[in-house]
Amino acid sequence: MRNPIIAALDVPDAETALKLAAQIAPAVGAFKIGKELFVSAGPDIVRRVRDTGASVFLDLKFHDIPNTVARAVAAAVRLDVQMLTVHTSGGSEMMRAAEKSAHDTAKSLKLPRPLVLGVTVLTSMDSDALAEIGCEANVGHQVERLASLAVNSGLRGLVCSPLEIADLREFLPAEIQLVTPGIRTGAEKADDQKRTLTPREAITAGANWLVIGRPIYAAENPRAAAEKILASLK
Ligand code: C5P
Repeated sequence: MRNPIIAALDVPDAETALKLAAQIAPAVGAFKIGKELFVSAGPDIVRRVRDTGASVFLDLKFHDIPNTVARAVAAAVRLDVQMLTVHTSGGSEMMRAAEKSAHDTAKSLKLPRPLVLGVTVLTSMDSDALAEIGCEANVGHQVERLASLAVNSGLRGLVCSPLEIADLREFLPAEIQLVTPGIRTGAEKADDQKRTLTPREAITAGANWLVIGRPIYAAENPRAAAEKILASLK
């Protein structure tokens, strides 16, 4: 089994990130670099994590005009990331441009094409928040609508909440990769994640990858925490 754990390096600086990465690398499948670390440490942190041999998920959630997103995706491919994110609400033209840029840039550099993942409705938004921005659909319908649009626009993967996995699996093609945050083992303190599944439940529901932050990096022993999660999946 390939290791489906993507450990979120949600720490403020390069030194802390590299130390954490070195500690937990043998127990995880990839690292996620998000906005905080990328904005503070710059693209060099991606190169440094890649230099350790680990795979990188660059989670910057691009959302802009198609040309700008295509160019940002090309820059991410040049950093040799294995996964990256775009907002599906940027529309089909933007997603097609992102996927084409990932394909063309990887081909010209003779690199494997990274997985461009679509983000649907942010889990911080409920139906009232959607109505505020002029979207009258409920969250579930809007997630399904954006997921279909993403797949029809050529994306091969989506980020979704744990509780969306089963519904999405019912109507999406089986080869679509689902990446889910909101994973909790039950051992950690309560925090801001409200709709959670355990790692095993999420994989059983049909997730391909689990994005796990605090249950690993905030644990007393992050390496042991990651190993325990991995063991729970076997
Ligand atoms: O610490 P925790 O396990 O909650 O971290 C989850 C990671 O996944 C964080 O990097 C967070 O930004 C990200 N994420 C999320 N919920 C989403 C999308 C991304 O928690 N809907």
